[in-house]
Amino acid sequence: MTNPDAALRSISTDLLAWYDRHARRLPWRVGPRERAGGAAPDPYRVWLSEVMLQQTTVAAVKPYFERFVSTWPTVGALAASPRDNVMKAWAGLGYYSRARNLHACAQVVASEHDGRFPRSAAALKTLPGIGDYTAAAIAAIAFDQPDAVVDGNIERVIARLFAIETPMPAGKKDIRARQASLTPEERAGDYAQAMMDLGAAICTPKAPACALCPLTEGCLARARGEQECFPVKAVKAPRPTRFGAAFVAVRSDGAVLLRQRPDKGLLGGMSEVPGTDWTSAPPEQPLAGAPFAADWRAVSVPVVHVFTHFRLELTVYRAIVDGAPSRDHWWAPPEALPGEALPSVMKKVVEAAVPGATKRKATGKKAA
Ligand code: ADE
Repeated sequence: MTNPDAALRSISTDLLAWYDRHARRLPWRVGPRERAGGAAPDPYRVWLSEVMLQQTTVAAVKPYFERFVSTWPTVGALAASPRDNVMKAWAGLGYYSRARNLHACAQVVASEHDGRFPRSAAALKTLPGIGDYTAAAIAAIAFDQPDAVVDGNIERVIARLFAIETPMPAGKKDIRARQASLTPEERAGDYAQAMMDLGAAICTPKAPACALCPLTEGCLARARGEQECFPVKAVKAPRPTRFGAAFVAVRSDGAVLLRQRPDKGLLGGMSEVPGTDWTSAPPEQPLAGAPFAADWRAVSVPVVHVFTHFRLELTVYRAIVDGAPSRDHWWAPPEALPGEALPSVMKKVVEAAVPGATKRKATGKKAA
């Protein structure tokens, strides 16, 4: 094909035809057939799924999404819920500032927008926790606005289609421009979701299934046999390790002593066991960081958790204690521990000291 506009149109047409046959069924999605039949997506569900899906997999998000929409079927219901309940329901999804922003956003939409999400990406971006990506995704998927949506999957598809040589993150600008020129005026939401599905199912990071790809003929990376070389990555600095100590105080009835992390910063507002700061070298006197004197015993292996920007190694100490908590701490009884807003790293810490403590217990009911 010689006309570049026609070549671009053919990409979106071929992709949409593929999506019509292969769209994933997802709990927040209105599929292409229902969409063609006039069904409209619920912007609340689109927004909620997009916030949850930022850096988390579809498989991990599904049960959280189902739980959220059955607990809070509308943005108004979510806005009216105590924030703590939202944080607890979010525990395990990571990036806890998102849960705080989620709740704040619901409150703004409920109180200032009459419970209706704005339709344009520009207006969406004024809401808490909605950045460029989420604004474009909601505008496209919920309202069919032709905004250029670029997530990690789409970035990979476009980098390969056009064999973009600029390493990430500098190459993102070019990718965004390419996506803007590919996005059709009609069916922009289906087009964005089709790109996502293609990236998830066919144009995978390793061993992409080019033989099944509807865009394979026009793919420059494929033509060179270099599909796995794109997107080109900048050489990364190694992830540093930080060290700390965590103290699991266990009362004789099995309750565990917890405190709340500060609202701002990593894991803001979540629960944790008391501990030292996390520093670039192991603490010289870890027991100086204990919340009180007790017979603290280190459990055998440190807990390791990998965050985006660093790896954390925590030595876990355990003591059986009795006594009242201080002002900033509380005792979480065994039956309440699984429902505490403990981030994954803290679940690992508590599990290292008290195996099974953070898991929900079977109800004891026998299957019929
Ligand atoms: N990843 C991010 N948003 C998505 C969506 N709406 N559908 C599928 N995967 C996604």
